[in-house]
Amino acid sequence: MLSVRNLSVSLSGRPIISNASFSLMESEKAGLVGPNGAGKTTLLRILVGKVEPDEGRVVFSKKVGDICYIPQHLDVQEGTDLASLEYVLEGRGLYSLGVKIRQTEQELERTQSENTLKRYLRLRDLYVEKEGYRAEEDAMEVLIGVGLNNIDLEQPAHTLSGGQKTRLALARMLFMQSGLLLLDEPTNHIDETALDWLTTFLQRSRASMIIVSHVQDFLDRIINKTMYLDCTTLRSYPGNYSSFLRLSEIAARQEEARQKQIAEEIAHREKSSGVPPRAEPPRSTSGKERFVNSNRNSPKGGREKKQWDCDSR
Ligand SMILES: Nc1ncnc2c1ncn2[C@@H]1O[C@H](COP(=O)(O)OP(=O)(O)OP(=O)(O)O)[C@@H](O)[C@H]1O
Ligand SMILES: [Mg+2]
Repeated sequence: MLSVRNLSVSLSGRPIISNASFSLMESEKAGLVGPNGAGKTTLLRILVGKVEPDEGRVVFSKKVGDICYIPQHLDVQEGTDLASLEYVLEGRGLYSLGVKIRQTEQELERTQSENTLKRYLRLRDLYVEKEGYRAEEDAMEVLIGVGLNNIDLEQPAHTLSGGQKTRLALARMLFMQSGLLLLDEPTNHIDETALDWLTTFLQRSRASMIIVSHVQDFLDRIINKTMYLDCTTLRSYPGNYSSFLRLSEIAARQEEARQKQIAEEIAHREKSSGVPPRAEPPRSTSGKERFVNSNRNSPKGGREKKQWDCDSR
């Protein structure tokens, strides 16, 4: 579905991602986690071609088609004069396709031309292929799901309130039926009821997805792989966010034990050679050995054992 190899990017001269590689298989659901400012949004923006990496390759399989990218800050497109329902239908290009079909129908009545008939039939086939005949029903389901059950569907999308516009834009993206979803903190836009609906929607979806989120329970119910980005390094772990946190706690404990052992060995050597022992054990200088538990990621906030700063920051 997606293969990323040796990806590196710096922004304003500061390295954000170094040499990252990962793959996303068909129907694989990955969580992308890491501290604020680690570069999660930047990574998704690279995948959709909005940021150019300094090095590396991003390869999509032919099957991918249109990517559903839900940015961290979501809004209705500027300049749209579509009504709310039309705006959602246009997520799959169905509103403009419907307009074209009606125009071609009128042309056909006027001209009775064979070419127009062929064009008309092609457009109708495309409409069927995009499941146009049940689209309004599907669009309504998504609109209700994101909590827009009481808006006037005829109201121009750009006249909705800020919060409503965000949800409408979310509904349009989810209505796309994309094979690849890249979701940057999608829970920011919705309330508890819509969160439950979105969780079920994503659980049932057969699309591949990368979800950036800080909400542990939401991720746990959906993902089967965790990608952790911090201090320019991306690592992937099988399992959901909780199992990643368990693994990181184990790794942090192992690192603590290793540090303690080193300190004891040094103290022992210094004692044997007659040098007075040092008060503090040495800190690890190896960036590679770091396995950070950050409570900035943990909605429960109490899991942090140790937070080292990035060597590069
Ligand atoms: N256009 C830019 N120019 C320079 N620096 C940038 C640019 N965009 C982002 N950055 C910096 O790159 C770093 C990564 O930002 P990014 O938004 O990718 O982080 P994030 O992991 O998504 O953070 P958050 O969890 O807060 O959303 C941040 O320090 C940010 O300030
Ligand atoms: Mg972000």
